[in-house]
Amino acid sequence: MLVSPSIVAASLTKFQAQVKECEDAGAYSFHLDVMDGNFVPNITVGPDFYFALRSISKIPIDTHLMVDRPDYYYEKFLSQNDRVLIHYESPINIKGLIKKMENEGVKYGLVINPNTPFSKVSDLLERAEILLIMSVYPGFSGQKFIDVSEKIKEARNYIKEMGLRTMIEVDGGINENTAKIVKNAGADIVVSASYLFSGDITDRIKTLSSI
Ligand code: DX5
Ligand code: ZN
Repeated sequence: MLVSPSIVAASLTKFQAQVKECEDAGAYSFHLDVMDGNFVPNITVGPDFYFALRSISKIPIDTHLMVDRPDYYYEKFLSQNDRVLIHYESPINIKGLIKKMENEGVKYGLVINPNTPFSKVSDLLERAEILLIMSVYPGFSGQKFIDVSEKIKEARNYIKEMGLRTMIEVDGGINENTAKIVKNAGADIVVSASYLFSGDITDRIKTLSSI
């Protein structure tokens, strides 16, 4: 299993050391949760934080844009091999944004909330690098895992049948038990915040990676 630490859950006073620890333990990418207080009822960080992280990290950054206007902001979170993760539920013309990003050669993923069926995005995955299936309603870390196994299986079958290269990622309530559930259903990557950063980071990344 590939592991993407949700880096806004890292300690602010030990930030640089924890970034390095995640990388040394084999993290696949950093997951940067950006919230605007509108799309979700919480506010996190913006482009300045992204650039600070970019300047000290060696692995890709996947920015999860939980904002009303991802079309205004996505360009501010892109450099090197980084990707932006865009919610299907964003109150904008999502197909228009996908087309624009494709024309610009932007690497992106699509995100669906627990109550959004996979069928809403199946036609939009051809050039998406990631399908991020939420296993909590976005807004806060530390929430209880919602079992989205059936949706993961449906997505896995579709991706295989269509010969797509889209990876399946799961975000919310991941720990060593729930990671097994999503792995068995067909997930490639897990995001983790509260589980990883509330214990021994190296041990926990290695535990999740070995699933
Ligand atoms: C939820 C965020 C998640 C969150 C995960 O709004 O998108 O990435 O940080 O937190 P845990 O792993 O604690 O559920
Ligand atoms: Zn997230």
